[in-house]
Amino acid sequence: MNKLASLCCTLLLSASVAVPMLAHASVEGDMKAMSKALRAASSASDAAGMKAGLADLKNATLKAKTEVPGGLKDQAADSPARKTYTEGLDNVIKQVDDANALIDAGKLDEAKAAIKEINTTRKTYHKKLGV
Ligand code: HEM
Repeated sequence: MNKLASLCCTLLLSASVAVPMLAHASVEGDMKAMSKALRAASSASDAAGMKAGLADLKNATLKAKTEVPGGLKDQAADSPARKTYTEGLDNVIKQVDDANALIDAGKLDEAKAAIKEINTTRKTYHKKLGV
């Protein structure tokens, strides 16, 4: 019985350490996917390639929105930092939609410029959140 109790205790302790670590790794993973997708969209030479990169970027950004970065875990959901996080990701999503609309309108040069601007949003929000 003692063994069972200590096994339960160990399991509980490891879960309480592992769960926040997993959640932290998740935003990192989404950011890595966003990075890869943005690179693909930026370096694509045709509309189809740009659209594929943008679709991946939107999916990874939507996924990041469902998660909370490790550094913001102890902040309330309506805290300024948490709101800044959501606001920045919403900006990226809007920029992706705008770039897609430009591609659909055949304005590839303008779409390329719009995609480049997404990198500025990345820098702005990383700076705001100190990452
Ligand atoms: C397309 C635009 C963006 C790209 C390519 C990007 C890319 C990255 C990369 C490569 C990392 C480092 C991940 C690692 O630790 O290996 C990172 C971290 C992070 N980014 Fe972004 N990012 C973008 C936009 C944003 C925006 C708009 C926000 C906030 C509104 C944001 C918030 C964060 C946070 C909080 C971290 C730290 C994650 C953690 O360690 O918990 N990023 N990002």
